[in-house]
Amino acid sequence: MKTSHVSTVLTTVILSVFAQVTQGAEKSCSCELNNSGLTFPTVRLQNVLSGATNCTHRITSQQMSEVDILLDKLHYRLRQLEVDVMELEDEDENDGSAQEGDLFMAVALRIIEIELAEILDLISKLNTTTVDHQGLSADISIKLENMKMEMESLENFDRTKIVEKQKENQQLMKALEQCQAELQVTEAPPIIPVPGNCSHGHLLNVTGPSTYTITQYGTSYAFGAWGRDPKPVEGKEDWYWLVALTSSNIYANYIRWYSSHSAIVLGVNAGDVPIASSNPTTNTVQGPNVVMYEDALYYGCYNSPSLCRFNMTSRTITTATLPSAGHNNKFPFCHLGACYAHTDVDVATDESGVWVVYATPENFGNVVLSKVELGSTPTLSRTWRTSLQKRAVTNTFVACGVLYATRYIDKYNEEIFYAMDTVSGRERYDLELRIKKMSENIHSLNYNPRDQQLYVYSDAHVLTYQVIFG
Ligand SMILES: *[C@@H]1O[C@H](CO)[C@@H](O)[C@H](O)[C@H]1NC(C)=O
Ligand SMILES: *[C@@H]1O[C@H](CO)[C@@H](O)[C@H](O)[C@H]1NC(C)=O
Ligand SMILES: *[C@@H]1O[C@H](CO)[C@@H](O)[C@H](O)[C@H]1NC(C)=O
Ligand SMILES: *[C@@H]1O[C@H](CO)[C@@H](O)[C@H](O)[C@H]1NC(C)=O
Ligand SMILES: *[C@@H]1O[C@H](CO)[C@@H](O)[C@H](O)[C@H]1NC(C)=O
Ligand SMILES: *[C@@H]1O[C@H](CO)[C@@H](O)[C@H](O)[C@H]1NC(C)=O
Repeated sequence: MKTSHVSTVLTTVILSVFAQVTQGAEKSCSCELNNSGLTFPTVRLQNVLSGATNCTHRITSQQMSEVDILLDKLHYRLRQLEVDVMELEDEDENDGSAQEGDLFMAVALRIIEIELAEILDLISKLNTTTVDHQGLSADISIKLENMKMEMESLENFDRTKIVEKQKENQQLMKALEQCQAELQVTEAPPIIPVPGNCSHGHLLNVTGPSTYTITQYGTSYAFGAWGRDPKPVEGKEDWYWLVALTSSNIYANYIRWYSSHSAIVLGVNAGDVPIASSNPTTNTVQGPNVVMYEDALYYGCYNSPSLCRFNMTSRTITTATLPSAGHNNKFPFCHLGACYAHTDVDVATDESGVWVVYATPENFGNVVLSKVELGSTPTLSRTWRTSLQKRAVTNTFVACGVLYATRYIDKYNEEIFYAMDTVSGRERYDLELRIKKMSENIHSLNYNPRDQQLYVYSDAHVLTYQVIFG
């Protein structure tokens, strides 16, 4: 198989075909697999692909208006559909094993069907939003209805009943896991409730992305951050900020503003606010993990183990020293041996305000979390020393007083695996919340308590994900 995420899907599905879990007297678990192969009508999928491309072009050529967020989502969904259909085609051409190819296709068909359902849902929302768009959405929805019918007929091709067997498959997987668990003498760890400190409950899941677009700079600046001020000043409620690391992928000396979501998607900025005239210089931005809060930018200071705050109104900088914090690449975020340069300091926002994440030699390079007090100069109040090696995580964020950390799974997935509750001080390493990536590297990741979204900057693209609490 060409990619690990594909083979993960495949392994799961192969098991679904004809599998039996047996636990022998000699204490071993086995899973017997049988399979049968069929060829797949790729040409019909190609037609669906070209239909999807047509729809995408129709939408992008339209004038964006107040329904642009819906259109953004639709556009993204259609692109995703294209990517999935193309992947399906590649699979057909490249895969030497016909049987595995067919299995993969059946799964991909299911994914595409789900995507089409989401697209139709967006269309019907668009349809009801404004009469101005009736012509456009009605036209596109006819095309999409046709695509959906075609996909449904392709689903009938699923004669091996693989899709239908997915539920059964999950039960088999569970049975296998249980069988393996029973073989181990050690007891299962006690179930600790998911931590949190908010009235809206615990973090349950992350869905999306809902926004996915390249920045106005194109592919020039791979590193950066963006977001929406969780506590905006009057008049800037809908504004978005973008800080691209414009020098050596490490430094920035200005903030770019956008007056709306569509403005950032279309790449029409409202202006730049300079932090300093040269880049880098004393107290300019070093590293991508910056946030905006109450109209001030919080970031790691150039060449110094400090937290800087740039006040947008007074255009002045105040700083707080991070005691013995690693800087200049001492304790960056990393994955699989590769590190994200100068990510020693990560600033975060949540319902209670601003936090800063770093690591110290005294804590063995493990993550340290400090609450930031927002006085006339920022100061640190409470500090938590975790057992989480900073170089073992790709990023962190704070939501409802809980620190979360992510790790790299593969090109397509990141995982929220760690949480530390600042109320109980309890740490856990067993969260398995996947984040679906659009490109490989996450350079910044921050939670916005106002819209409960994660704002991500990834390989010159900006994305949002919805955090689900419950
Ligand atoms: C798999 O195929 C073999 C030979 O055709 C058959 O003996 C066996 O029962 C099959 N196993 C399952 C689980 O269907
Ligand atoms: C897409 O548009 C092109 C040109 O407008 C047209 O030739 C083609 O048939 C369209 N494809 C579909 C599937 O509608
Ligand atoms: C869109 O609205 C029109 C007119 O109100 C309706 O006929 C059509 O079925 C709607 N389409 C969808 C996909 O909701
Ligand atoms: C989290 O959301 C994803 C995507 O919507 C979904 O596939 C998954 O089942 C959800 N997980 C849980 C634990 O709800
Ligand atoms: C920024 O400066 C303005 C004007 O001096 C001041 O009123 C405001 O409190 C400052 N904001 C922060 C977060 O310090
Ligand atoms: C947890 O929430 C309570 C009430 O909302 C608040 O008083 C307390 O400061 C919070 N604890 C932390 C660590 O944020």
